[in-house]
Amino acid sequence: MPRPVALITGPTSGLGTGFARRYAVDGYDLVLVARDVDRLERLAAELRDEAGAAVEVLPADLTDAADRAKVADRVRAGVRVLVNNAGFATSGEFWTSDYTVLQAQLDVNVTAVMQLTHAALPAMLDADAGTIINVASVAGLLPGRGSTYSASKAWVVSFTEGLANGLARTGVGIHALCPGFIRTEFHERAGISMDGTPSFLWLEVDDVVRDCLAGVAKNKVVIVSGPQYKALTIAGRLVPRNLVRRINKTVGKGRGRT
Ligand SMILES: NC(=O)c1ccc[n+]([C@@H]2O[C@H](COP(=O)([O-])OP(=O)(O)OC[C@H]3O[C@@H](n4cnc5c(N)ncnc54)[C@H](OP(=O)(O)O)[C@@H]3O)[C@@H](O)[C@H]2O)c1
Repeated sequence: MPRPVALITGPTSGLGTGFARRYAVDGYDLVLVARDVDRLERLAAELRDEAGAAVEVLPADLTDAADRAKVADRVRAGVRVLVNNAGFATSGEFWTSDYTVLQAQLDVNVTAVMQLTHAALPAMLDADAGTIINVASVAGLLPGRGSTYSASKAWVVSFTEGLANGLARTGVGIHALCPGFIRTEFHERAGISMDGTPSFLWLEVDDVVRDCLAGVAKNKVVIVSGPQYKALTIAGRLVPRNLVRRINKTVGKGRGRT
């Protein structure tokens, strides 16, 4: 029996590495998509050696339309699992940020998710089997700091929920993973200081991946990882939205991140 294939964007670091390791151990072959070729090759070698997976390395910058099209072609050729994980945030104020960086964020966090999902679904529906995991964030569920980042993740949640309705009663599942703070390179890359963040708010990559795949197995559409974030997001739904916004404004005060 050929092994099913999982294509993962952003596996060179953090959560994406966690997904790649887990799917390899679970018996999948992998297609790894990111910019850093050395890190892609190192991870591919590890997964071949330690999990016996066949691994394709597909270097791509998801801000680049030609690269996105190349990845979409690979997805269209057939994958059982698509993990739209690549993403990034920015720091600083919206109105002084480099506009090209804001557009790049939209390209990676939103356009790539839409394009690769669009490429994946026809073959998955033909096979009546497939899983798409779109990595969103608690920031997509609660109004707060980081306008463009939060908006991009709210888009991912809304997009996923809309498609989940359309895909009901098919063998294809689509899921939005909403983690809180995870120990990865994410904040350092964005230049966001996390000094003073209470330790109970930090999640570990392997726990988030485990929670996600448990949610997928139960066919949950929106998967919030970690009991602390489940409590926060439930409270966020019960409390009026303008109050949640005010609380977030107080908590995030002085960080200069819109
Ligand atoms: N860490 C958190 O607290 C947190 C919380 C909620 C949600 N998330 C979400 O979780 C996902 C994974 O983030 P992470 O925490 O694992 O961050 P990370 O450690 O910074 O990893 C980000 C990954 O995305 C890839 N990537 C970034 N820009 C790319 C581009 N233009 N083209 C292709 N790949 C690109 C990077 O690969 P290359 O640099 O090699 O291209 C890297 O593999 C993101 O969608 C993020 O928004 C993170």
